[in-house]
Amino acid sequence: MADNEASQPNLWSSRLMFILAAAGSAVGLGNIWKFPYIAGENGGGAFVVVYLLCIAAIGVPIMAAEVLLGRAGRQSPINTLRALVRRSGASKGWTLIGWMGVLGGFLILSFYAVIAGWALHYIFQAGSGTFTGASSAEVSGVFDDFLASPWTMLFWHTVFMAGTVAIVARGVNRGLEFAIRWFMPVLFVLILLLVGYAMVVGDFAAGFGFLFGFDFGALTVAGVQEAMGHAFFTLSVGMGAIMAYGAYVPGNVSIPGTVLTIASVDTVVALAAGLAIFPIVFANPDLEAGAGPGLLFVTLPIAFGNLPLGAFIGTLFFILISFAAITSAISIIEPALAWTVEQFRITRARVAIALGGICWFLGIGSVLSFNVWSNVHIVGERTFFDFVDYVTQVWMLPIGGFLIVLFAAWVLPKEIVTEQLGFSSGFKWKLWLVLGRVVAPIGVLLVFVYTTFLA
Ligand code: PFF
Repeated sequence: MADNEASQPNLWSSRLMFILAAAGSAVGLGNIWKFPYIAGENGGGAFVVVYLLCIAAIGVPIMAAEVLLGRAGRQSPINTLRALVRRSGASKGWTLIGWMGVLGGFLILSFYAVIAGWALHYIFQAGSGTFTGASSAEVSGVFDDFLASPWTMLFWHTVFMAGTVAIVARGVNRGLEFAIRWFMPVLFVLILLLVGYAMVVGDFAAGFGFLFGFDFGALTVAGVQEAMGHAFFTLSVGMGAIMAYGAYVPGNVSIPGTVLTIASVDTVVALAAGLAIFPIVFANPDLEAGAGPGLLFVTLPIAFGNLPLGAFIGTLFFILISFAAITSAISIIEPALAWTVEQFRITRARVAIALGGICWFLGIGSVLSFNVWSNVHIVGERTFFDFVDYVTQVWMLPIGGFLIVLFAAWVLPKEIVTEQLGFSSGFKWKLWLVLGRVVAPIGVLLVFVYTTFLA
């Protein structure tokens, strides 16, 4: 076969393994922590509709483009783009996509590790019975105290970064595959259990209505912007993470079917997390949907505090969130890591430590944003944490995704695309052309230009 599979020593062991790894990348804090809180801040329903539309019309084609490019190039995103630019006779400028992804990865992982550190801390909070029988005010107090302690937060941030580095250092197949295969399904079952709890104890009708009642009056321009940015973030697209994983996909795996599966799993987990959280919010007068980044860390502990076996379930839940976060974190760093290893022939372990160190250092800014630097603002009202989150989600990922899909659908020679997608005519081909050439890039452009410049 024309595929250069032999040039890539690190292949996923099966189609299922790739699905699990990519779903492991996609499903993370974005689904369980971020989606509920930004849906809450943006009034629910209408925001969710825009988010779902962006996933389907923009995120899925871009994810297909990333896997396609990754597998066609079989190297780190930077070198994959370099190779494909050469094969297409295109401008070298396209390799900038790879560099932007590397930079985006540093920024995203820096704050991602801080929030994952919160989840780690909460494993012990839940496990030691802090929430057992606690009122919603007490649970909120525990969270506020934690935010006010930079050293505790820095400690857990450090633990999480160290864990990520340790896994990444061991390579793609070992460790990672095992973790994903077991933890993802258990996490999913636990979320369903919490949805069940919310149905019985929370105000489920209000929570459901909030998420799926389409109140377009509540939608703001900033909300549309955030919905699109989050569609990129939650699917891990726009910065080359999925492209890096695509380089390890065996030649016989079908890209469109696989990508649809991954996006569906990701979406279902996010919606389920929303259905677990909002009924609890609406059943507790002390809580509000727009509470911001702390939403998960106050709502679910209230549920755990009142559930039979709550300390146990709570502990397990935060363990699983931490695993979901780590399976995402390793993919965030993979583009930079793979490139450095290829380029300088240094061992993965050394590179992992160096890159992890950079992210750790940047993350200190996010740690301080919640306490010592909470009054330091960069661009408008944003703390350092808000700023890094905003720049990556609203600017870097959409611009990266836009360029990726343009390159795959317009610039790459047809025979390369056909070889990867497995079809070159008929309905599927036309659908790819329409989505990849028109719908996805124009969709990003419209939302981006409208929300950034015109509104
Ligand atoms: N998709 C991850 C989440 O939802 O938690 C976050 C993420 C992973 C973003 C990988 C970007 C990325 F490249």
